[in-house]
Amino acid sequence: MFKKGNLYFPTEKFRKSALANDKKIYQEAAKDPIKFWEKLAQQLFWFEKWEKAFVHKPPYFQWFQGGKINITSNIFEKNTLGFNKIKNKTALIWEPEPTNEKPRILTYDELFKEVNKFANALKKLGVKKGDRVGIYLPMIPEVMISMLACARIGAVHVVVFSAFSPSALRIRLQDTGAKILITTDGYYRRDKVINLKQNADDGVKGTKVKKVVVVKRAGNKIPWQKDRNLWYHELIKKQSDQCDPEVMDSEDLLFVLYTSGSTGTPKGTTHACGGYTVQAYWTGKWIFDLHKDSILWCTSDPGWVTGHTYTVYSPLLNGVTTLMFEGAPNWPTPDRWAQIIEKHKATIFYTAPTAIRMFEKLGTDLVRKHKFETLRLLGSVGEPIDEAAWKWYFKEVGKERCPLVDTWWQTETGGILITSLPGIGPFKPGFTGLPFPGVKVQIKQENLLILPPFAPGLLRGIYKNPKKYLETYWSQYGKKVYFTSDAAYKDKNGLIRIVGRVDDVIKVAGHRLTTGELEAAINLHPDITECAVIGIPDKIKGEVPVAFVVLKGKKPELKVKEELLALVRKQIGPIAKPKEIYIVKELPKTRSGKIMRRILRKLFTGKELGDLSTLANPESVEAIRKIIKK
Ligand code: WTA
Repeated sequence: MFKKGNLYFPTEKFRKSALANDKKIYQEAAKDPIKFWEKLAQQLFWFEKWEKAFVHKPPYFQWFQGGKINITSNIFEKNTLGFNKIKNKTALIWEPEPTNEKPRILTYDELFKEVNKFANALKKLGVKKGDRVGIYLPMIPEVMISMLACARIGAVHVVVFSAFSPSALRIRLQDTGAKILITTDGYYRRDKVINLKQNADDGVKGTKVKKVVVVKRAGNKIPWQKDRNLWYHELIKKQSDQCDPEVMDSEDLLFVLYTSGSTGTPKGTTHACGGYTVQAYWTGKWIFDLHKDSILWCTSDPGWVTGHTYTVYSPLLNGVTTLMFEGAPNWPTPDRWAQIIEKHKATIFYTAPTAIRMFEKLGTDLVRKHKFETLRLLGSVGEPIDEAAWKWYFKEVGKERCPLVDTWWQTETGGILITSLPGIGPFKPGFTGLPFPGVKVQIKQENLLILPPFAPGLLRGIYKNPKKYLETYWSQYGKKVYFTSDAAYKDKNGLIRIVGRVDDVIKVAGHRLTTGELEAAINLHPDITECAVIGIPDKIKGEVPVAFVVLKGKKPELKVKEELLALVRKQIGPIAKPKEIYIVKELPKTRSGKIMRRILRKLFTGKELGDLSTLANPESVEAIRKIIKK
């Protein structure tokens, strides 16, 4: 890239070879976004073409109405590159955490067969089109195979992040009514074996799950219920490696993925087959500039939306190689991630600002030992990337050569909606850039909004909760405007900078949580009268939660704190653990009794507290300040 003023642009060489390199696509798309998306959709394989491209009945909308499609057909037998051309090409490189284990490589043909075998196995277990299937797997190849097997037969996958607790798993299984769960015996994390089967057993209690399919990964000892448990490897042994794709309506559900809700109950965002396929395919192609020989390493776990779209679906739809790593990026050495890039010759590296800041902290010298000669593009996602991290990433990893795409999107949007394109630019540190062609955004009172026709991959609803869908996304600016809950502004070049969430969502190491769900977990403790959780800035993780609690009873404070940490872990998972728990006499409240979390936050950011006279108990603020100082 080269710099002009405070903007960066791709070099002429990069621009020339880029798949999207003509500014005109923006004008063409803006003129008629529906027609534009239709043109893109036409390049994929449809069993039957749609009748109407976009149908809007606010707050609902449909894309490619009447069209028939299967996402796995577009990955395999009908891949746009031609299946014969990609058959023997590597689809997946899987790098295990233990360094003495060999990577597992699957070609497109091998992956296809694995998917078909498991799809047939699921059918044998009675899974039918429209049934929900729970997937509680770590980053092992079977997470991808399971997702694709579901999609093959039209079952709706519900992936639950493997580091979520049994209770978090249970809520999701109950909400979707899944009857099958796929999990594993255990997996490696920093040399330790995590017994996931035990968690899965706890999680399925009180759900409709009848069968638990267990992938053998770590070989650890696990509880086994003969009537309900099945080994994955035994199940697929006798299955045929051919399975016809289910013909799906464009608007049929492809998956449900949960995201934190304000009140503690997570929201199941629903995604439709046709629109999601189109958006996953094209955003990946243009934003990561996916050429035939690309090797994309998206570090996100498929338990999150980034993993759904850019570890699994988008690279495979584009017929390129996707890289998946089982472990932690800094294990067993701080530069494991860098070694993996070099070992597997990754050409695109897509990760979160938290990881970037951690890499920097662990040592720039260590990073400088690596030349990253194969890298041609970098990506960032999940939280705002500060200018310093942007520049470090660009210089030390991208060697000032690779374009850096800062991609803005959400679980709800299914795919990236805002980022400048690498072959066009411009880029500016701290700014996510321009909306993807065909996406209309508006910023009103600093709120980031998306206007019709939205984008084909945007959520179609919240599973079984139309009221929440309407309230959360379509009530602030009317039923025709999608409210993102992000604050943003534009610079004079039209580049967008994301400021952060305007609701109670916090991003802990890029993982989405709400202060509401943490408070709900803490309030379960019998000694808590009330509590408030806020996110405070953190140098590495972006944000971390801290909790303020008011106690009743006489239990020693230290003991309560320990129990609260254990409780949060049990209810949500280790990622939600508060950095600090402050025991206070009272929380600052308005006269109407509303807890003023905003004021608590300001105690950490050093911002002016402002007028406290509206509070019912202004003196509480000073008392809390003293406790924090201690
Ligand atoms: C935030 C992750 C700044 C934003 C794909 C959004 C970002 C929320 C960026 C969604 C970015 C995501 N710059 N902020 N490039 N990307 N966000 O559902 O607040 O886990 O609303 O989806 O992450 O988080 P989610």
